Amino acid sequence: MGRKNSIHQVQKRIKRFKSIVSKLNSKRLNYSKENIINNIQDFAGLRVICSYTDDIYILIDSLSRHPDVTILKLKNYIENPKESGYRSVHVVIEIPVYFLEETKKMKVEIQFRTIAMDFWASLEHSLRYKNNKENPELSEKLQAISDEINQLETQMFSIRNEIENLDS
Ligand code: GTP
Ligand code: MG
Repeated sequence: MGRKNSIHQVQKRIKRFKSIVSKLNSKRLNYSKENIINNIQDFAGLRVICSYTDDIYILIDSLSRHPDVTILKLKNYIENPKESGYRSVHVVIEIPVYFLEETKKMKVEIQFRTIAMDFWASLEHSLRYKNNKENPELSEKLQAISDEINQLETQMFSIRNEIENLDS
């Protein structure tokens, strides 16, 4: 599946109890297993960090071909970055989970990013956490850095292609 080293790192997280409660509250639902399964699409979260953008599309393509996987939602913030400068592809999939007596479908939210996009997103997230006041000047700087990081990734990508062409 894909190139060698196309996945740099995978991070996983289960939504925190506090976030589940506030999500259910906002939808005015009571705290049942059914409500969590049916209403919280990011209960199980994966972040797949790839080397390059093309790796992301290769992985999503093979996911979509997998007979057990249904893609419920796909948001491409690489083609359409968020206002903040955020780049990533968000996919919500549904997969069967086999128990002894039954099979249940479970939703998993996956964020696909490159190393470069993850570098920006991780630092931007912690900066925003420290300073949650609106600051147009800082926002503009962060957007500009996101563009620069994107250009650097493109340059690394073209070097990768040059090297691969030498090999073949
Ligand atoms: P919706 O269907 O609108 O909810 O879209 P979504 O679920 O694809 O994206 P949402 O805006 O809900 O963001 C989900 C997650 O993406 C967040 O918890 C963050 O991890 C990440 N994210 C989204 N926007 C940003 C951003 O501007 N900066 C950073 N650092 N992370 C972001
Ligand atoms: Mg969301």
